[in-house]
Amino acid sequence: MYTQDEIMNEHIFYRDGELYCDDVPVREIVQEMGTPLYIYSKAILEKKYHAIADAFSDIETTICFAVKSCSSLPILTILHDLGSGFDIVSGGELFRIVNCSNDTSKVVFSGVGKTDKEIKYALEKGVLLFNIECVAELSNINLIAGQMNVTAPVGIRINPDVDPHTHKKTTTGKKENKFGIDFITAAKIIENLSSYPNISLKAFSMHIGSPVYSTQPYADALDGILEFMDSRSDLPDTLEYIDSGGGFGLLYNDETVPDFTDYADVIIPRVKKSGLKLILEPGRSIAGNAGVLIATALYRKSNSRKNFIITDAGMHSLLRPAMYGSYHGIWPVKGQTPILPAGIMSEECKMEPSDIVGPICESSDTFCENRMLPPIDRGDLVAIFSAGAYGFTMSNNYNSHPRPAEVMVDSASWRVIHLREDWESLVFRESR
Ligand code: LLP
Repeated sequence: MYTQDEIMNEHIFYRDGELYCDDVPVREIVQEMGTPLYIYSKAILEKKYHAIADAFSDIETTICFAVKSCSSLPILTILHDLGSGFDIVSGGELFRIVNCSNDTSKVVFSGVGKTDKEIKYALEKGVLLFNIECVAELSNINLIAGQMNVTAPVGIRINPDVDPHTHKKTTTGKKENKFGIDFITAAKIIENLSSYPNISLKAFSMHIGSPVYSTQPYADALDGILEFMDSRSDLPDTLEYIDSGGGFGLLYNDETVPDFTDYADVIIPRVKKSGLKLILEPGRSIAGNAGVLIATALYRKSNSRKNFIITDAGMHSLLRPAMYGSYHGIWPVKGQTPILPAGIMSEECKMEPSDIVGPICESSDTFCENRMLPPIDRGDLVAIFSAGAYGFTMSNNYNSHPRPAEVMVDSASWRVIHLREDWESLVFRESR
């Protein structure tokens, strides 16, 4: 099991009264870059990738990092250099891969609404797999592949109707979700496989939700797929993979997070039983704890009920709290090691209940409510932890705020990996 050390760890930690990312004081980076600012530790990305690869080394596994979780080119390049493939859900994400490595041999194209243009592009680039989400999509890929005179490698994304016990908005493997194909329809596809001459059925796939804090839903979903496979005598010998998707848990607060080996203990024996190879699509579990969002406190105001700290980061920089009510550890950059998540300092320190909020004109633009924090004043820097996944990638321009910059720290050095947007970049596509 992970502990809170996952968040306050040897790479993102407090030393001499301030926050460091590896050997660099966060304050130093901010002096040059300003805020809101995403800072990532390269070492954490590497460690997480290796931890997953090690946990699954007992079976032939292709790790396909979920690009949607953290997609700037240098991050994808780091993962590619580690040996990772990629899980994509749009032509734009494929364009990112082509722009950082041009290696599309380990790209899995997931997603419910692939356009003709995206399908053509992916066929041209020769992706490893299209995970199809409905019969109409299969017919369309078959048609386009035929026009291009190629064979499309396809996985059927099964909807196993399993509850991953996560947030309603990130549950994807239940019947009421728009994702995947039920077993009855999958059976029909297999019976009619000869009517799709430009398709090669390569995989059974799933992605049941995110984050999934128990291994049981993976067991249940995979057992469903195995049972389905056992029940059929007409499976083609083109089958090569089971793609078990992403969804591994991450420590944000006080969750009990299974270790990668716990997930492996459930997934590996089942995939071995199928005789196929394994594809994984982790995103959050690799990038989540690698990134921290730094904000500046602009103002504070109090009334008889509340202390509001208004920062320059908000739901435009990190949408998760507004969208899912998600918890992120928050602490001043200048300070001593907090005991997250409780927000209690190990030493005596004055604390006050605080609402950390953003500048956006929505009441949901709130990172936390009544959180016990040291007093935060105008100009103070605030760190919002575990923001590496679905942080920058879900940032937006609401209220016409430019999106943040991103910085990568590598031991004692750091570099800008994504320039901050400016006001001009907000309007340059608009006619005047
Ligand atoms: N594969 C597929 C097909 C997916 O849809 C996803 C995530 C993943 C892999 C990666 O899952 P991960 O390993 O990162 O859990 N915005 C939400 C999360 C949405 C996840 C969408 N799909 C959040 O901030 O919590």
